[in-house]
Amino acid sequence: MVKRIPVNPPADPSILGEKLYFPTAKRYASNRFMKAAMTEKLCPYDKNNLQITGIPPQRYINLYSKWGHGGFGVVLTGNIAVDPYHVEAPGNPIIEKSLDSPSRREALRKVAEVTKADGALAIVQLTHAGRQTYISVNEHPYSASDVQLQGVKFVGVAGFGKPIPLTEEQVRTEIIDKFVYAAKYCYEAGFDGIQLHGAHGYLLAQFMSPTTNKRTDKYGGSAANRARIVLEIYDAIRAEIPAETGFIIGIKMNSVEFQNEGLQTEDATFMAKEYEKKGFDFIEISGGTYEKFGFNHQKESTRAREAYFVEFSTDIKKALSKTVLYLTGGLRTIPGMTNAIKDGAADGIGLGRPVCDEPDLPKKILQRDVQSSIATPFEAVGGGETDFAMGLVAANSLIWQAGEVSYEKTKDNPSYGLMDLTDEEVYDAFLPAAKEFLVKLTENAEKGIVISVFEYKPETGA
Ligand SMILES: Cc1cc2nc3c(=O)[nH]c(=O)nc-3n(C[C@H](O)[C@H](O)[C@H](O)COP(=O)(O)O)c2cc1C
Repeated sequence: MVKRIPVNPPADPSILGEKLYFPTAKRYASNRFMKAAMTEKLCPYDKNNLQITGIPPQRYINLYSKWGHGGFGVVLTGNIAVDPYHVEAPGNPIIEKSLDSPSRREALRKVAEVTKADGALAIVQLTHAGRQTYISVNEHPYSASDVQLQGVKFVGVAGFGKPIPLTEEQVRTEIIDKFVYAAKYCYEAGFDGIQLHGAHGYLLAQFMSPTTNKRTDKYGGSAANRARIVLEIYDAIRAEIPAETGFIIGIKMNSVEFQNEGLQTEDATFMAKEYEKKGFDFIEISGGTYEKFGFNHQKESTRAREAYFVEFSTDIKKALSKTVLYLTGGLRTIPGMTNAIKDGAADGIGLGRPVCDEPDLPKKILQRDVQSSIATPFEAVGGGETDFAMGLVAANSLIWQAGEVSYEKTKDNPSYGLMDLTDEEVYDAFLPAAKEFLVKLTENAEKGIVISVFEYKPETGA
């Protein structure tokens, strides 16, 4: 029996079952839940054979079939790269002109099909990693400016190279055109929309943030100029896929970067307003970069409200009138989620880590079967220490485990085969194996070998 975060007295989840309206695409999400983007690292990756690299395998399709039946209004994919030389992580899907093939198209078509099978809107997160591309993938990635990511030590990553600033011409040919190509591919594959990844320090965030954008041309300087690339991508996608098609366009953006010179909420609010004016259907609020992660509580005042960015998103929401605002990060209980809506911090709720061990958590919440997520031991629920790195490894292993068995075989229990880390025996077996994996990851990174996912099969508790 899994252990959950206690909720007392029980709360009413009804508000979470309300529909959300996307104003430009004129489409509805059936409820307020969104499965947040999570890098899966399940695809083949071979730098020397890009034709097979980044094609979603059956395991990926099994995974999305589970989330597709999990009761979400919207299911976002993990980030899909628009450029094989600027991937967020090796092992994720890639859509780029030179890699087009019938097998890539067919795999993505299947992903869209299974994700939508139970009525969820299937939306692809499109990403260009910019300066946050691993050095093993690209020694000199493109960025807004030549500000190198330094002093960041990631387990399993040898570092990040000095970036090359994009010329104005390259902004069009290397960035805008690639996002448009990928968006069109997604549309043709049957997805309901795309989300631009403009958060967590990836390329679009590099343009939006003053720490990484030192440009003096029309893409740098004022907040309006730093947001320009996003607006141009929007227009270019809409020129190919007009609003009348019902194709949804959203963006994930930082509300704050927790750095002195980083993006502040005032600029983020200004940008969000610009995105609404342009026609973005939804904005997902997040925060942090590789230099300063935001996936845990920075302030005691937000701990009780669960969501890490609740104060910032409240400011941003006040400035919006029709674009749907999703808040992601830290939400774990019905009171936390419903209060975020009622207090005016968000219209919708993004869920990441809690839906790795429980792909159907929204369904269980809406059916009033549960009041909260599973109490994962790495998230300091109950006052312990947060172990962020271990939490990521656990989430990634769970993602791998969920792909192991098809949805059809686990219909009655979508958590079948997923480790229950609240079971002490399972936890005690997982922890040393995960630590060993992290050591191997580091050794391999030094040799230039990339291993992506921790393929861990639980022996008990599944
Ligand atoms: C394993 C893992 C992979 C992630 N990959 C992505 C990603 O590809 N794109 C993205 O925007 N955020 C990514 N995130 C961040 C999540 O979307 C989310 O913002 C974060 O986990 C906070 O939400 P949570 O507290 O509900 O987990 C990832 C998080 C985890 C745990």
